[in-house]
Amino acid sequence: MKREQWKSQLGFLLAAIGSAIGLGNIWRFSYMAYTYGGGAFLIPYLTALLTAGLPLLILEFGVGHERIGSAPLAYAKIRKNWEWLGWWAVTFVMFGIVLYYTVVIAWCLNFFLLSFNLGWGDDPNSFFFKEFLSVSGAPSEIGQIRTPIFFALLFIWLVNWVIVHRGVQRGIELANKIFMPLLFLLTAVLVFWSLSLEGAMEGVRAYLTPDFSKLSDPKVWIDAYSQIFFTLSLGFGIMIAYASYLPEKANISRNAVLTAFINSGYSLFAGFAVFSVLGFMAASQGKPISEVVSQSIGLAFVAYPKAVSLMPGGNLFGAIFFLCLVVAGLSSSISIIEAFTSAMVDKFGIKRKRLIALVSILGFCGSIIFTTQAGLLWLDIVDHFLTHYGLVVVGIFECVLVGWFFRLKVLRGHINRVSTVKLGPWWDFLIKYFVPLVLGIILSGDLYNELKKPYGGYSWTSLILIGRDWVLLTLIAAFVIASRPWRTEHHRSGGRG
Ligand code: ALA
Repeated sequence: MKREQWKSQLGFLLAAIGSAIGLGNIWRFSYMAYTYGGGAFLIPYLTALLTAGLPLLILEFGVGHERIGSAPLAYAKIRKNWEWLGWWAVTFVMFGIVLYYTVVIAWCLNFFLLSFNLGWGDDPNSFFFKEFLSVSGAPSEIGQIRTPIFFALLFIWLVNWVIVHRGVQRGIELANKIFMPLLFLLTAVLVFWSLSLEGAMEGVRAYLTPDFSKLSDPKVWIDAYSQIFFTLSLGFGIMIAYASYLPEKANISRNAVLTAFINSGYSLFAGFAVFSVLGFMAASQGKPISEVVSQSIGLAFVAYPKAVSLMPGGNLFGAIFFLCLVVAGLSSSISIIEAFTSAMVDKFGIKRKRLIALVSILGFCGSIIFTTQAGLLWLDIVDHFLTHYGLVVVGIFECVLVGWFFRLKVLRGHINRVSTVKLGPWWDFLIKYFVPLVLGIILSGDLYNELKKPYGGYSWTSLILIGRDWVLLTLIAAFVIASRPWRTEHHRSGGRG
């Protein structure tokens, strides 16, 4: 069967940007900037972008394009016994990250609807944790399914299904051609609106004035690197699959540079809206900015609703904000489903439409655990383990495989042949030595913290059974799938280089 292709380079670029820009840009980025000294966070963030994010994005685009395959196929074409790495990436993303990611989109959808009549009442904090999530005392106390979240989740999975079912051009490309301009427009409205609020300038000052003392904390650097991974969808297998749908002539490095900078530019821009609103909150409550948010998750679902209730015309402001999150989230979740689907089609030649129906149903069922009263706790643990020990480990192995077991010069030659932005030997150096070293240090730091004290104050049993075992089970699944014989001939052909 002929491999599907993007209709245009712009379609590919928008899809890659759509995958990159997601909940991570608005919610996670702003929280990190808030916690780690406002403007000072931009230093580790941009360092991470230039030294690891961009080089790896070029690598993922390059590998997908040159080897013409989804992550497992592309890796198998480099070294047969490294196929598992691709399967691991697409499996823990499909049967891990996207399960709770869609639940957070479902929360946003609920909050979008609640915005119209300020349904969170006078105390958004108590509303969010007690009424809406009804959080239980421990991960083992599952409790009941939260109906509003459940139905919103069902809707989100249906939308995912419909889009991915329609294929690369008529589904993903078309959706992003609608989603991305819509997102940029809504975000611009939000930013300019929030800048006009009373106290906004105080917030902007807090955002842009660096507190350099925070930079000596290694945790800031660790988090900046993990944030870059998450935000650029690196180690997800997505960018490899997306690049495999490009035609022979494709400007790989320019598209990578554009994706990386538009994605980070979007985060920086949206940060103005977040910080202006914090400034507004501080002014209306007579509190310093450092005290208006108490918990990470509270930034979007507690502080924002609080601000929305206080401002004139807040309902519309809230609706736009949560709609932005829903749109940004959807364009990322479809990319995750596509990365897995593409891998299964490459290996087993399964009919795409049937597979997507099955994957969406399984995905929806798997997400249900995160809609229960213990959902937030499960989400926190699974997210911590998969982003710290899944994505980063895939990143390290990716560098080792491509840097040491593949002729990096051939790949660079291929990228340079088709691209306008030329890569020098510095790129080889980054991939072979620098990126794996930095990621290795980050991983060691993480492991050290992990063993020192239980993450988030959860019991060791919960962390082991939910977090560690989630990572291990997906890894075992990856080896099992990799051991199955190929049902297609794709793996016999080489690459373009
Ligand atoms: N890159 C996506 C995000 O930032 C997953 O949310």
